[in-house]
Amino acid sequence: MALLITNGRIITATDDYVADMYCADESIARIESTIDPQSVPDAEVIDATGKFVFPGFIDPHVHIYLPFMGTYAKDDWKSASQAALVGGTTTAIEMICPGRDDQPMDAFETWLERAQSSAACDFTFHMGVVRTDEAAMQQFRDIVLRGVASFKVFLAYKGALGVSDEDLYRTLTLAKQLGVIVTAHCENEELVAQKQAELIAVGKTGPEFHEPSRPRIVEAEGVQHLMTFAELTGAHVYAVHTSNQLAIERAVKAKQRGVNAWIETVVPYLVLDKTYAEKPNFEGAKFVMSPPLRDKEEQPYLWNALRAGIISTVGTDHAPFDFVGQKDMGKPPASNFMMIPNGIPSIEDRINLLYTHGVATGRIDLNTFVRCASTNAADIFGLTQKGRIAVGADADLCIYDPNYTGTISAKTHLMQTDYSAFEGMPIKGRPSVVTVRGKVMARDGQFTGKLGHGQFLHREPTH
Ligand code: URP
Ligand code: ZN
Ligand code: ZN
Repeated sequence: MALLITNGRIITATDDYVADMYCADESIARIESTIDPQSVPDAEVIDATGKFVFPGFIDPHVHIYLPFMGTYAKDDWKSASQAALVGGTTTAIEMICPGRDDQPMDAFETWLERAQSSAACDFTFHMGVVRTDEAAMQQFRDIVLRGVASFKVFLAYKGALGVSDEDLYRTLTLAKQLGVIVTAHCENEELVAQKQAELIAVGKTGPEFHEPSRPRIVEAEGVQHLMTFAELTGAHVYAVHTSNQLAIERAVKAKQRGVNAWIETVVPYLVLDKTYAEKPNFEGAKFVMSPPLRDKEEQPYLWNALRAGIISTVGTDHAPFDFVGQKDMGKPPASNFMMIPNGIPSIEDRINLLYTHGVATGRIDLNTFVRCASTNAADIFGLTQKGRIAVGADADLCIYDPNYTGTISAKTHLMQTDYSAFEGMPIKGRPSVVTVRGKVMARDGQFTGKLGHGQFLHREPTH
C-alpha cells in the first residue's frame, strides 16, 4: 500500500523542514509542503505531526551469523532484523566471517542464504579476509562482482581470525585494484597476547582484566599499522569500533598525510565505560567486548569528534552472546577472561541511545545524528538508494516520536540474548513507524512487517 506521511519534520544530513511525503512502488515519489490526500486515494495516511521523519538508519557493523570463540552468536536474521527495525535500523551490513579453512565463496553463499531466507530489513556484507592465497584472491574478485564492495580484516585475535602483515598488504593491494574499501578491527594482536599472558600468570583472571590486557595504546598501534599499510598501498580504509582519543588521533594524522581513511565508533563506547566490566560476581562479563570499554573520560572526545565529523559513523558491532552458557565460558576459577566471548548486543538500542545521549542532551544536533547513523554509511559503502530523503530514493523511513519515554530491558527486547547491557537505562524518544522500501515494518516498539522482506543490496565499488 502507498503511504502519505503528513506534517512530519523531515531531517536529513543537511536539511530540516516540515512537509508531506508520498511513497509508492518502494520509493519516495513526492515531497511537497502539502499533498492533498484526495490526490493519492491509494495511500495509508500517517500523521507525523510533532514527529521527526528520518531516513532509515544504517548499521554499518553487525555480526549475526558468527562462529566465534568456540560458540555462535545468539541472534539470527529473524530476531536481529526484527530488533533492528523496531529500533529504527532499516539496513544492516553484516560481516561474512569465514574460518581459515573455508573457501570465501562458500562463506559468501552461506551468509547470503541465511540472510535472504529471513531478513526483514535490507542487508549487505563486508567480506571477511583471513587468507590471501591465489584461490582465495580469485574468489574475492568474484565476490566483489556479486555486489560486495567492502572487505573486513582483523588485526586482532591472534591464531584465530587475525591476519598476517603479508595478508594485510595483499588484501589492501587487491582492494585498491578493485576499488573497494577495507574495514579493519585495529588492535595489535601480539601485544594483546603478551599482556593477556602476563595478567593470567599473576592470577588476574576476571572480566575486569580484559581492558588492561588491551589498553588504548594497543588499539592506537593497530590503527597506526592499518594507516601505514593504507599509505603504502593507496587503499581506502575504515577503522571499525574505535574507542578512544589516542587511537583516533593516529587515524586523523594519517588523513592529514593524505590517507583515505574513515573512522567508526560504536554505541557502547558512547554510553558505557570500563567500570561496567568491573562489576562484581562476574557480571562484568556482560560488558566484555574488543576493543574494551574505556574510561568515561574518553566519551566527551568521542562526542566532540562526532560533532566535528572526525568520526563518520556510529554502528553497534552487534555481537550477541548469552550471559548464562556463553559469557560464563570465561568464568574463574575454572577459566579466565580470555575465554569470554567478546561482544555486546545492541542492534535494537543504537538509535534510541544515540538520540537520548546525543540529541536530547545537545551533544550532537539532528543533522549530525542522521549523518553518523545513516547518510555517511550510505556514502562510504555505496548504498546509493539509502540514507537520504529525496524523490527517487528508497522509501526507508523512521518516523520518530521525540516525546516517548521508556526504559531498556531484556524482558522486552527482541534480541535473543538473556541480558541487556543497557538494562534499566531510560530512553527519550523512539521510532513510531519504520518503513523499508515503502512497507511499514514496525510501529511503536512492535514488529509488524514480514520476515523475508529484506533484500540483498548489490553494491558497486566506489573507492
Ligand atoms: O567484541 C567484539 N567486538 N566482538 C565481535 C567481533 C569483533 O571484534 O568485531
Ligand atoms: Zn572487531
Ligand atoms: Zn565487529
